[in-house]
Formats: sequence, structure tokens, C-alpha cells
Amino acid sequence: MKVFYEKIKLVASRNQEGSFRVCSIGCGDGLVDNDILSALATEYPDRHVQYVGIDVSETYCQLAKDNLKPGRNVDISILNQNFLNFSSEAFDFVVAMHSLYYLPCPEDGVNKILSLMKDHG
Ligand SMILES: C[S@@+](CC[C@H](N)C(=O)[O-])C[C@H]1O[C@@H](n2cnc3c(N)ncnc32)[C@H](O)[C@@H]1O
Repeated sequence: MKVFYEKIKLVASRNQEGSFRVCSIGCGDGLVDNDILSALATEYPDRHVQYVGIDVSETYCQLAKDNLKPGRNVDISILNQNFLNFSSEAFDFVVAMHSLYYLPCPEDGVNKILSLMKDHG
């Protein structure tokens, strides 16, 4: 997780204003993402965070809703859909923890992630 947190600091240093936008591809039960959100809240207590978790499984979406414990400045949105069909305003952070290898063509997933990220993401 240490490398991960260093990456968070690097990307955050390139976005000095406004909200941090975080997208989790295949968010699952949300427990891993709790660590990411709490790292952001600890390092940047005054910054607002918009988190979008996406998962094809309705069961996991419900678990993520139950498990995610947003801090004071975090908005949570959970979408039950295939992330390959997702389009949105760009994100500072796109997390795909243990989810790309489920795709028939992981390269499609990587390209989608790149399309969802801001230039500094
Ligand atoms: C092994 S779990 C990982 C969950 C979480 N990221 C973690 O690290 O604990 C993989 C998740 O990806 C989801 N998933 C697989 N393919 C997906 C797709 N095309 N779009 C959205 N979610 C997907 C599965 O439903 C599952 O919840």
C-alpha cells in the first residue's frame, strides 16, 4: 500500500484546487476503497472528494453501499453497470484493483481507464 499512497500524493500535488474525483472500477465490497478514501481524508482533510464505485454485480454494489464509510467531505455514488459502458467527466484517480483480469480483453479496460482519467491522473 505504501507505493499506492505515494501515488496518491503525487497525483494530489497536481490538483491543488477543487474536488478530488475518484473512480473505482469493479469496486467489489468497497473495503479496499475505504483505505484509499481514508488516506485522502487524512492527508487532505480540507479537500472535498467525489467517489464513484462501479460494479456489474448488484450484490457487491449493495455491499459497497453498506461498507463504505465516507468521511465528512466525501460524496459516494455506486453504479451497477459494466464500466466499459461508463462515460463521465474525468477523474483524478481511477482504481482498478483485481478487476481487469475479468475482462475478455483487458486492453479494452486499460483504454477505458485512460479515457476516464484527467491528464495528470
Ligand atoms: C476480485 S473483485 C475486486 C473487488 C475490489 N476492487 C477489491 O480489490 O477488493 C472484482 C470485481 O470486479 C467486478 N467486475 C468484473 N468485471 C467488471 C466490469 N466489466 N465492470 C464492472 N465491474 C466488474 C466484479 O463484479 C467484482 O466485484
